[in-house]
Amino acid sequence: MEKIIALAKRRGFVYPSSLIYGGLANSYDYGPLGAELLKNLRDIWWKYFVHKREDIVGVDTQILQRPEVWVASGHVSAFVDPVVEDKVTHKRYRADHLIEDWFEKNQGKKINAGILSIEEMAELIRKHNIKSPDNNDVTEPRKFNLLFETSIGVVEGDKNLVYLRGETAQGIFINFKNVLDSTRVRLPFGIAQIGKAFRNEVTTGQFVFRTLEFEQMEIEYFFDPANNWRQYYDELKNYYYNFITNIIGLSEEKLRWRQHSAEERSHYSKMTEDLEFKFSFGFKELLGYAYRTDYDLSAHIKHSGVDLSIIDPETKKKFVPHVIEPSIGLNRLFLAVLENSYFEDDQNERVVLQLPFVLAPYKLAVFPLLANKPDLVNTAKKVYHQLTDEYYCYWDDRGNIGKRYRYQDEIGTPYCITIDFQTLKDSTVTIRYRDSMKQVRVAIDKIKSFIKTENEKIF
Ligand code: GAP
Repeated sequence: MEKIIALAKRRGFVYPSSLIYGGLANSYDYGPLGAELLKNLRDIWWKYFVHKREDIVGVDTQILQRPEVWVASGHVSAFVDPVVEDKVTHKRYRADHLIEDWFEKNQGKKINAGILSIEEMAELIRKHNIKSPDNNDVTEPRKFNLLFETSIGVVEGDKNLVYLRGETAQGIFINFKNVLDSTRVRLPFGIAQIGKAFRNEVTTGQFVFRTLEFEQMEIEYFFDPANNWRQYYDELKNYYYNFITNIIGLSEEKLRWRQHSAEERSHYSKMTEDLEFKFSFGFKELLGYAYRTDYDLSAHIKHSGVDLSIIDPETKKKFVPHVIEPSIGLNRLFLAVLENSYFEDDQNERVVLQLPFVLAPYKLAVFPLLANKPDLVNTAKKVYHQLTDEYYCYWDDRGNIGKRYRYQDEIGTPYCITIDFQTLKDSTVTIRYRDSMKQVRVAIDKIKSFIKTENEKIF
């Protein structure tokens, strides 16, 4: 993880946020390369789930919504973490995490303390005299709501409390009827959204895995509960797994599905599974996959008084659709991709980010072999400008060619194109592959078709 963090900072993927003022816990900014990688992940996700499927449409809803949305969804009352405070340093910790760590260290047992009640956690902390990581006594666990509060209005005393959304899903549910009435979608269909969500997390130090502000990519897939839910559940699950493994390229050995036990599952869910990725700090949730029944739509019907049910055009039967929800954190996926693609090639003394072409921030880098030869530079500039029509390309004419290659390897650029003296004679260039370091000669007017053939349609 240290190596990934260092690379991310050194090469402009991720910086600690507000660093010139001492940093802000659990907050990160994305640099030029990080912004590109995030954008590529968003774009490919949208293409695969929205554009490639006739049964899923997209929305983009507000971060600030009426506070009743969060009352109805249960977030105001139940979106809480059990938190204890170190009595000396006043740092806060997740009580369930402290308990889990204690059992693992002292009894070699992996337990899931997240399913315990606050009283049961308090009991365990007392019984085993569980301390903070600084070895100090901690307070009794308390419930700590994760929703960030802010207010609308400028006049003091006349301001209205609102929440920053804790998930993008609720924006989908409250627009379910709008989408149904304004488009030609018919059940079963999905609504997808990518957007920021905010949670007042207490756990620190997990890089972009868990942050206060993050992006979610969520789909709510609605269907008639008279039909077998399992067919929709399995179809979307397999489709999603294909995205993670074949499109994004995460290694299957680093992935596993973990089904939630009945105690762990939310009361409204009939089935929940997490797709876990083996991060450098262990297997952790990457994607939440849940059959949420009609819980959300019914809660909004009850709290808003608006009828969100559907009438089947053929049978005239009225019902509230059920929903299957795959939910993934974009930033967590970003971290998984970085960890998955990081490779130390000791033999060649280089670090390589083996990113799939579709995700690489720069697809190609173009170099004149020497910067002080105008013929080489002018030809290289021409090649560069031809290619930028189609690909995001890196221009580099500084330092020796070996250093330039190493730099591109580290930022994951799949191909480096060098214009050398032979180019001036026969209009061919050297194309060097990032992973194998193999080099081939290709005619300038064939570069685009070469790159296209190498990276045939991915779906
Ligand atoms: N609508 C369901 C929902 O929000 P969740 O399991 O709380 O479910 C879904 O969150 C996904 O969002 C997680 O699997 C994770 O990838 C991401 N996520 C949740 N909290 C996060 C945080 N604090 N920082 C980064 N990603 C987070």
